[in-house]
Amino acid sequence: MSEPWVKMVTAQTPTNIAVIKYWGKRDETLILPVNDSISITLDPAHLCTTTTVAVSPSFVQDRMWLNGKEISLSGGRYQNCLREIRARACDIEDKERGIKISKKDWEKLHVHIASYNNFPTAAGLASSAAGFACLVFALAKLMNAKEDNSELSAIARQGSGSACRSLFGGFVKWNMGKVEDGSDSLAIQVVDEKHWHDLVIIIAVDLQTIHSFAISWRNNSFFCDKLEIRGQRCIVSSREKETSSTTGMHETVETSLLLQHRAKEIVPKRIVQMEMSIKNRDFASFAHLTCADSNQFHAVCLDTCPPIFYMNDTSHRIISCVEKWNRSEGTPQVAYTFDAGPNAVLIAHNRKAAAQLLQKLLFYFPPNSDTQLNSYVLGDKSILKDAG
Ligand code: DP6
Repeated sequence: MSEPWVKMVTAQTPTNIAVIKYWGKRDETLILPVNDSISITLDPAHLCTTTTVAVSPSFVQDRMWLNGKEISLSGGRYQNCLREIRARACDIEDKERGIKISKKDWEKLHVHIASYNNFPTAAGLASSAAGFACLVFALAKLMNAKEDNSELSAIARQGSGSACRSLFGGFVKWNMGKVEDGSDSLAIQVVDEKHWHDLVIIIAVDLQTIHSFAISWRNNSFFCDKLEIRGQRCIVSSREKETSSTTGMHETVETSLLLQHRAKEIVPKRIVQMEMSIKNRDFASFAHLTCADSNQFHAVCLDTCPPIFYMNDTSHRIISCVEKWNRSEGTPQVAYTFDAGPNAVLIAHNRKAAAQLLQKLLFYFPPNSDTQLNSYVLGDKSILKDAG
């Protein structure tokens, strides 16, 4: 290992959106949740993190750059992920380049990490989920760790809870687990991405909100690196967003009685029903459960002291619009779900429903108005022609 050399691995991981939400931890260090959750992994072409990890004997410390800016790795979450992967590192030999790294060498070698999100980090679109999943996956490949994706998910979980579900495509379940060390709190795939391929996901981003968020961050002198609203990119340090989910759920656990009822009585039954509706591709049941769970998550936020408001007027208008349409059709066409932010994730039954939904969104939130929506259509952009 005397010659200077660099060994690199690049990985790409999509984000995921929960249809049965994770909100609340029973162990904040290990990141163990109070209930199971289920999510859908998005198409990597649209919302993903790309991470390159590199190792070289010439690196003198671990370093990381997020969207081109160096960030500190001193936080417990990064350290936990690095430590866990290093503990599982195995020998590697690259005969062509004459590189040999033994299990013991990994303890002394340092890594450099460069990570990019291709979507707005600030928009409440679970950027930490893609980020930590990608980091853990790339490090595991670099260090030749032999663990499968479920085992890696238990490490990604220690970076950010929702990250454990991004190690798989399709629909994914995070089992809350029972044991104290958290080794059984990991993600498993419910069905792969081909199972229910006609679903279309539309993410409506409220431009006004992103704008005002950015302004308030500036006023509070948080780091705001680059903001291109029209260009669909709004990049700020992801750590602010992470902290806000983390803090929010901490306060909910401390103060909300409704959360106890949700975690013990409601979610266990919902998880069983949701798994069944996904396996049977039963959209009516899927939509009912998805909307109900999103609404209960936000009710639990309201039940927190002081109350947490993640949705805004535009979010509420979108809910009314979808509810009215679903009722008028007799059978649901679209499900909505909102995470820790005001942006709507809309899951349409099929391309025709997605096209009609987009038409409605354009009608109610016309371009160049105060509430213009910036939609990410995950899938084929020619969808509008299917409106019928
Ligand atoms: C509303 O995974 O960001 O998106 O574990 O503290 O990092 P930490 O929280 P995080 O929380 C995500 C919460 C959610 C619901 C979900 O994804 O299940």
